[in-house]
Amino acid sequence: MLKIGVLASGRGSNFQAIIDEVEARRIPAKIEILIVDNPKAYAIERAKKHGIPHLYINPKEFQTKEAFYEKIRDELISRGVQLVILAGFMRIVKRPLLDAFPNRIMNIHPALLPSFPGLHGQKQAVDYGVRISGCTVHFVDEGVDTGPIIIQAAVPVHPDDTEESLSERILKLEHKIFPEAIRLFAEGRLEVEGRKVKIKDYKLPEIYFANPEMRE
Ligand code: GAR
Repeated sequence: MLKIGVLASGRGSNFQAIIDEVEARRIPAKIEILIVDNPKAYAIERAKKHGIPHLYINPKEFQTKEAFYEKIRDELISRGVQLVILAGFMRIVKRPLLDAFPNRIMNIHPALLPSFPGLHGQKQAVDYGVRISGCTVHFVDEGVDTGPIIIQAAVPVHPDDTEESLSERILKLEHKIFPEAIRLFAEGRLEVEGRKVKIKDYKLPEIYFANPEMRE
């Protein structure tokens, strides 16, 4: 069974969606560890509730970012982790971790990449005035949200949307596509070729496309 390590910085609602799918046995995987860079992250409470070990690693205790990621890498490797999930982990991953897990680190981003990378993807979409936004699950490379795309899902942006209302609409789809991407990985169905990800025997469900009726 695939061994997963999750990195998070905050609320952890994506972490919860993944826990739920793993517990329902829809993802053939085990979550070995949650690592947080913030001792107040609510994700810790979720880990406790579900009997998942957690670890707080304080970035300020390290001289360099590389040393911080070496520590994360070593903790993940010592637990036999095979896939690393960034579930609202608000940092740019550096070399030591990337090199140890090539095309084996997944991130969720709240916009349709390559539009609106970096922080506050939802606010960027509202401010820009796009009509459609969404979310993206991708493998992580050294750039900011630039790695090969696994799944995307789209939602409409309404004229009266705020950052909050759009975030809420996008989040519902994040909770669907992130576990889905992990499931595909766990089933051995993802193959990376250059910047493209091939999905074996797969048809994208309709939910992943913008639905003008979707107002909540
Ligand atoms: C999610 O919306 C996720 O897409 C975003 O942070 C939120 C975390 O929520 N991630 C990024 O913006 C990464 N650049 P959660 O802690 O409830 O999963």
